[in-house]
Amino acid sequence: MSVRVCVTGQPVSYSRSPLLHGYWLRKYGIDGAYGREEVPPSEAVDFYRSLATRGYVGCNVTAPNKEIAFSVLDEAEESAATLGAANTLWLEDGRLCGASTDGYGFIANLDAGALGWDGERKTALVLGAGGASRAIVHALVARGFERVALANRTLERAEAIAAMFGPVVRPLALERIGDVMRDADVLVNCTSLGMKGAAPLLLDLSGLRPEAVVSDIVYVPLVTPLLKMAAGQGFRTVDGLGMLLHQGVPGFERWFGVRPEVTPELRALLVADLKA
Ligand code: ATR
Repeated sequence: MSVRVCVTGQPVSYSRSPLLHGYWLRKYGIDGAYGREEVPPSEAVDFYRSLATRGYVGCNVTAPNKEIAFSVLDEAEESAATLGAANTLWLEDGRLCGASTDGYGFIANLDAGALGWDGERKTALVLGAGGASRAIVHALVARGFERVALANRTLERAEAIAAMFGPVVRPLALERIGDVMRDADVLVNCTSLGMKGAAPLLLDLSGLRPEAVVSDIVYVPLVTPLLKMAAGQGFRTVDGLGMLLHQGVPGFERWFGVRPEVTPELRALLVADLKA
């Protein structure tokens, strides 16, 4: 019988996950299906608890249900337990298990960018203090970054995330980033600025070292005003689409038993869809 998985959330119509997983299902000749289910938060607990009776072996969870999904897990991987949120669920002997793979996706995408980390101790500057930022800070700390400066317009939100991770994460107000620019090996935009329809994130990048990498988790548009400016000034850039592609890898492997590859062909498929 065909293995069924879906992406859940509200709204779910914008999700590119069906395209991503559909590509892998075809590529590996797997008898499976990946669909989408609109699940309002009020129905989320019931939905995730009844995945099996609905014919699913697992699902992805997108906004606004990641915290609710975590709350119904029988077993949480370390990533989900630390963040109190889950974006990937699967059933194991009838038990509902979950992980948060956004941070993994971010790091795998950075590594795939051939940045040559060489096990060196690194410093990151993360902008924004929402759920995505929390997942990325967690992944950077787990990846062994020596220091993570976390800047946010609302300082208290940055302080709350920093408190979860100890002294390696240093909160600061957004207007103070000039103080830490020089130390950053990687600058990551996790604010919603730069997204289609939002104001651009305008930063003075002159304080960054030339070898620093500038990255954005926004992928609509693919080249955000920040990435355009950074590339124009000669910095290496990493866009948010790669993070989306890589975050899907652990889930696909769980559900369908094959560790899928993030190929240039897959990226081109998603790029074409974003342009459509
Ligand atoms: P998510 O959970 O999707 O990561 P979020 O919780 O909506 O996103 O967070 C959006 C981030 O963008 C926040 O860091 C927000 O800053 P505040 O915490 O101060 O609200 C940041 N952000 C949004 N609009 C902004 C703006 N105009 N200037 C600076 N930061 C902004």
